[in-house]
Amino acid sequence: MTPKSRRDDGRLKIAIQKSGRLSEKSFALLEKAGISLLKSKDQLLCRARNFPLDIFLVRDDDIPAFLVNDVCQLGILGQNTMLETKLLDPQTFGGLEQVIELGFGRCRLSIATPNDMSYDGVESLAGKTIATSYRGLLADYLARQGVAADIVTMEGAVEVAPRTHLADAICDLVSTGNTLISNGLTEQECILESQASVIQNNGMQDDLRALSEKLLARITAVLRAENSRYIMLNSPVDSLDEIKAILPGSQSPTVMPLQGRDDMVAVHAVCEEEVFWQTMEDLKARGATSILVVPIEKMLD
Ligand code: PRP
Ligand code: ZN
Repeated sequence: MTPKSRRDDGRLKIAIQKSGRLSEKSFALLEKAGISLLKSKDQLLCRARNFPLDIFLVRDDDIPAFLVNDVCQLGILGQNTMLETKLLDPQTFGGLEQVIELGFGRCRLSIATPNDMSYDGVESLAGKTIATSYRGLLADYLARQGVAADIVTMEGAVEVAPRTHLADAICDLVSTGNTLISNGLTEQECILESQASVIQNNGMQDDLRALSEKLLARITAVLRAENSRYIMLNSPVDSLDEIKAILPGSQSPTVMPLQGRDDMVAVHAVCEEEVFWQTMEDLKARGATSILVVPIEKMLD
């Protein structure tokens, strides 16, 4: 399989994580974008049935290489991995660019120290040894802070490094914080906030670019719909302006007469923000009745 022969079949290729924190949600996102997969999630390659798309299931750390070698044109990857890869080898990976933030796979890259180590700010790390799988990001952070510390690179199990006296502190991903707690570590500095994103290689072939744009437009629409709600309510004519002003992230609500009522109207709006209970209570306090908030399945302007 040469990259060239792959490319010539006219199908778009996307690389996603085979298993791990991004895997399930990456599959789910493609499915919501209308991509139906021929089932073979155990293999390297999984074909879409109804879109000229092939899905490569790989280790997340390998995704940047699949893109720069043009085996794949798109990838779904944590910003942490993407930034680290670029920092370590800007010449090879500098052409990768983030196109869409996906809102899932949120985590932080943080420095943590043993609970019993005294710590008064980042200067406490001077002269210490820090274990991490993110040498590039950590070195960059320490340089910006003007702190000189030694970095030990580990592929995994970074959280056990202080206990085994391999390092004084660690720099690792934190999402729930459970790993830190169960290893007697305290989070001290967050050096990066991360989430999953779609990345692409900026030199994409023209024939595949159109396919890529179509898929990216669908993904953007899925994310918008997920974050939006359709709200319906009846509003007193007198407080209509106030009620319209409270509706979160809505452009121009539809206002319709209610049969047999000249004091009330029906209001329908797409809210491109979450509708909280507090908002509904505020609407009610201004006389709104029959307030209904429903999810939106698909949305296209
Ligand atoms: C990360 C990190 C921790 C854990 C933290 O590993 O290395 O072990 O997640 O999560 P928590 O705060 O919810 O406990 P991950 O599972 O992402 O594996 P990888 O980094 O080796 O791909
Ligand atoms: Zn990983």
